[in-house]
Amino acid sequence: MTLVNCQNLVRRFNHDAGIFDITLNVESGELLVLAGPSGCGKSTLLRCLNGLERIDSGALTIGNIQLNARSPVSPREYSAVMHRMRQQVGMVFQSFNLFGHLTVLQNAMLAPRIVAGLSHEAARDAAAHFLQKVGLSDRLNFYPGQLSGGQQQRAAIARALAMKPALLLYDEPTSALDPTLVREVLNIMRQLHDEGMTQIVVTHEMRFARQVADRVLMLDSGRMATHCTAEEFFQGHPDPRVTNFLANMD
Ligand SMILES: Nc1ncnc2c1ncn2[C@@H]1O[C@H](COP(=O)(O)OP(=O)(O)OP(=O)(O)O)[C@@H](O)[C@H]1O
Ligand SMILES: [Mg+2]
Repeated sequence: MTLVNCQNLVRRFNHDAGIFDITLNVESGELLVLAGPSGCGKSTLLRCLNGLERIDSGALTIGNIQLNARSPVSPREYSAVMHRMRQQVGMVFQSFNLFGHLTVLQNAMLAPRIVAGLSHEAARDAAAHFLQKVGLSDRLNFYPGQLSGGQQQRAAIARALAMKPALLLYDEPTSALDPTLVREVLNIMRQLHDEGMTQIVVTHEMRFARQVADRVLMLDSGRMATHCTAEEFFQGHPDPRVTNFLANMD
């Protein structure tokens, strides 16, 4: 089943920056790695999928939510759709973005309480459940500053999961971590993939991509360079942009 559909998606910042003409399906349960050189539009595409960035043209469907740049809705209706989209889509950032004055448990309870409107008990149960899933059940009452980077990133993943999103997006989730902590975060993503979570991951971890990704989308100057299976991407792809990109990794 298709969960995400982008049709000729465009987000233009000025004449030559942004993303252009992205047409893409992501199937439910798929892990898609989003790759490409710095400035090619990876974060911009994630932000469009998360309803953080408005689209200038084209259409975007996530589950039963549709955004069409051309459909004549008022700015207010458009914002309402983007808001609904944000509730379906979890996002994990390079810099974790946890609230430093709240414990790990409180961080993970916040959106379920305030955005989803769960009771205190239901939000706490959901938060504790997902924190346990990422191996942090013994750290619930710690503050982010008392945790390692890998633990903080796992807490951020649990926080996203606590909203029961249909789709999880990651923007370079391991780039701020010591090499020894990278694996624990990648393992969570691998585990979620095994459980059928749909994930789109911007990462430079090509070994992970090769082992775990179903498909790879590579962007080049905001446009699609290739969208293919991980096997096709890593085993002698004919496009020199792909081979050059891979030659410059690791
Ligand atoms: N808010 C903005 N205003 C103007 N230009 C922007 C904005 N956000 C991104 N851009 C431009 O759009 C292009 C794509 O940026 P984006 O951050 O999506 O790239 P990226 O692939 O995530 O790069 P990196 O690997 O360095 O994170 C860049 O040229 C960038 O300067
Ligand atoms: Mg980026």
